[in-house]
Amino acid sequence: MPPPVESPRVVNIADLRRLAERRLPRAVFDYIDGGADAEVTMRENCRIYDDVILRPRNAVAIPQCDLGVTVLGRRLELPFLLAPVGSSRMFYPRGEEAAARAAGAAGTAYILSTLSGCMLEDVRAASSGPVWYQLYLVGGREVASGAIERARLAGFSVLAVTIDTAVSGLRERDGRNGTKELLGPSLGARLRFLPQFLVKPRWLAGFLGDGGLMSFPNVVIPGQGPMAYADVAAALEQSTVSWSDLRWIREVWRGPIVIKGVLTGDDARRALDEGAEALVVSNHGGRQLDGVSATLRALPEVVSAVNGRAEVLLDGGIRRGSDIVKALCLGARAVLCGRAYAYGLGAGGEVGVARAIGILRADLIRTLKLLGCAAVADLDPSYVEAPPAWSCRPSQAV
Ligand code: GLV
Repeated sequence: MPPPVESPRVVNIADLRRLAERRLPRAVFDYIDGGADAEVTMRENCRIYDDVILRPRNAVAIPQCDLGVTVLGRRLELPFLLAPVGSSRMFYPRGEEAAARAAGAAGTAYILSTLSGCMLEDVRAASSGPVWYQLYLVGGREVASGAIERARLAGFSVLAVTIDTAVSGLRERDGRNGTKELLGPSLGARLRFLPQFLVKPRWLAGFLGDGGLMSFPNVVIPGQGPMAYADVAAALEQSTVSWSDLRWIREVWRGPIVIKGVLTGDDARRALDEGAEALVVSNHGGRQLDGVSATLRALPEVVSAVNGRAEVLLDGGIRRGSDIVKALCLGARAVLCGRAYAYGLGAGGEVGVARAIGILRADLIRTLKLLGCAAVADLDPSYVEAPPAWSCRPSQAV
């Protein structure tokens, strides 16, 4: 029997999401699936793609499509990278290595979260493609410097600094699922929330076989070792990055720096002034400040502010190849997919991630052929119609 993720019934990312929901304990599934507060921004990240209409050029024969893009001087075979997703080792044994391996096999990049369960060196070794390191300042500057140095030695090519986590967003689902209690010292408090794990024996067997509760091996506290798995919300709260940090980060990391978490033209210009080579238009998948704009809506303002001085990437809400096409038409050089592959990872490990990538790749080829465009590099605004207000700066919008 093929693994469930390879079933012919799995035709899109939503199907992988359902399989992940079936395999994972509620707290783990909701960690992937949930967002901040009322989840308005999280939902809007996906919905907004409906506002952009495709304008095909028909009667154009395209025997072969080129899906390749160049990001920071490196060719990727696909116009999407795998976004940093914290705690992936909770979704599947050695989750970050599994995802990185699938990314490399598909010819694209994997971005490793600071809050990961696998050693960054092992993740580097798992992928045949480029790997980037996402930075939080969890544990402080010395700890971050140590991780940056290790990432450099291991061969990570890009540092992605996330700037939208001054405090953690309120993930209401985590509260209801008892995330804090499960990680806290009181056995009594923990017991109430344990049944959700016991009803998922296949996940539980994998989790225990993989050593049980992960630690953060890339957050090494001097004199203590790897940071113990803590409430991610609490860990993020201690990790505010400010523009002044960019200076010392630049000194420790000599390679390209990407600033992730830009939603306005002002922040885009500031990031460029601080030496960023690329930006990611991101609202953290709607997991931080609820009520901010969907990323596709913010993209035109950022692209206009950057004015060709840096590469602009985007994440948030990507579930179909046509979403990627729309983002590229509106000026993104490439996109980052987070949940789209995390569902695959939760549903079936590396095979599930490969399935997610395969679904998006097939979508892209079909969309390009139906659009009459032979290469993602040729996509431009003429292939889409976006609402007219999108081309105005917010101050000019009516
Ligand atoms: C970590 O970055 C998270 O969003 O949970």
